Amino acid sequence: MPYAHITGWGMSAPESVLTNDDISKMVETSDAWIRERTGIRERHIARDDQFPSTLAVEASIKALKVANLHPRDLDLIICSTSSPEHIFPATACLIQDQLGATKAGAFDLLAACTGFIYAMNMGAQAIRSGSIKSALIIGTETLSRFINWKDRNTCILFGDGAGVLVLQASEQPGGVLSSVLHSDGSGGDLLTLGRGSSRYPASESAILDGKHYIEMDGKEIFRFATRIMVSATHEVLAGAGLTLDQVQWIIPHQANIRIIEAAARGLKLPMERFIVNVEHYGNTSAASIPIAMVEALEKGQIKPGERIVMVGFGAGLTWGALAAEWTGPIPSKGHVRPERYRLFARLRSLVRRALRFIEGLFYRREL
Ligand code: ACO
Repeated sequence: MPYAHITGWGMSAPESVLTNDDISKMVETSDAWIRERTGIRERHIARDDQFPSTLAVEASIKALKVANLHPRDLDLIICSTSSPEHIFPATACLIQDQLGATKAGAFDLLAACTGFIYAMNMGAQAIRSGSIKSALIIGTETLSRFINWKDRNTCILFGDGAGVLVLQASEQPGGVLSSVLHSDGSGGDLLTLGRGSSRYPASESAILDGKHYIEMDGKEIFRFATRIMVSATHEVLAGAGLTLDQVQWIIPHQANIRIIEAAARGLKLPMERFIVNVEHYGNTSAASIPIAMVEALEKGQIKPGERIVMVGFGAGLTWGALAAEWTGPIPSKGHVRPERYRLFARLRSLVRRALRFIEGLFYRREL
């Protein structure tokens, strides 16, 4: 049975940075309060012309370059996002088109901030079963579009960005070792975003009721999060037949430093074993775990042969964890430059649109 290895990684964050001081000019809050209660100093906010697919494509190109994998050799693209560009088409399909991943199946996966762990699990299972050889696993968000900038309970927390990992099949043991996924829909009302859904179709009243913004019971989410971070970590390690001592790094969902500190206390681990960057990105939902992992890999913090546990929670409620061994890129021949392929992808997309138009003319004539 092949193993699913992490062979490529990339991230992208919008250049524009919103500091706590900037937010304190919009709502009654302060840099000191936000830092003390959340650990966040700043977050990145997408420009009007930056979308989840824009950020994801930038991050994907970097990840494919590291993996030395051509976009046309990708078998599957899973895009986990809580801020999809449309209800349909899937954001994953927009990414597939912009990358020119001509052979890849593509779909979106929504499990809120746990989405990346769910997506990694799905991609790894497909590789382990032998049905595919490679998958692009994406977490990408522009949740800033759904924030009520007058609500100090939520507007201080979230940021935009994308993180991507490449999974590839190899006979060498390692890669994704085990994962656990959980949900509890009875807590669905604790964190919601309703606009444009079939329950709250876009309407004047939905806008007036504020259904187009994130609504959250912060205290309840906090309590739930601190509980499950510890239990999910123990559970995933038991599944992999590992103990905490055999894992070097915990990569938690970056929602609030106090939640991460509570997890560290619960697991009886020092904070040095946790990869943390919430200070500079805030909560980027499905993108938070891959962004933290990519930064750690780029800094050389995680070394080949080391084991990690990703653990996260989010709306739904959902939570989960994934244990993996990072073996580094699989040696491959040639030198792939996916960024050069982007132009070809754009041309290909235009040609396919033109062909569909021409085909349509003939089809109409035949009717
Ligand atoms: N600035 C100043 N004061 C504030 C602010 C603010 N931004 N926000 C709330 N307060 C006030 C409250 O009004 C309250 O005042 P009161 O005592 O007079 O009523 C006081 O500060 C304490 O408020 P709490 O809600 O008790 O503050 P808490 O310490 O719980 O922190 C927070 C709030 C940061 C939202 C915290 O509960 C939290 O992080 N929860 C988890 C949220 C989370 O992780 N969500 C994402 C989930 S993942 C996903 O799926 C997207």
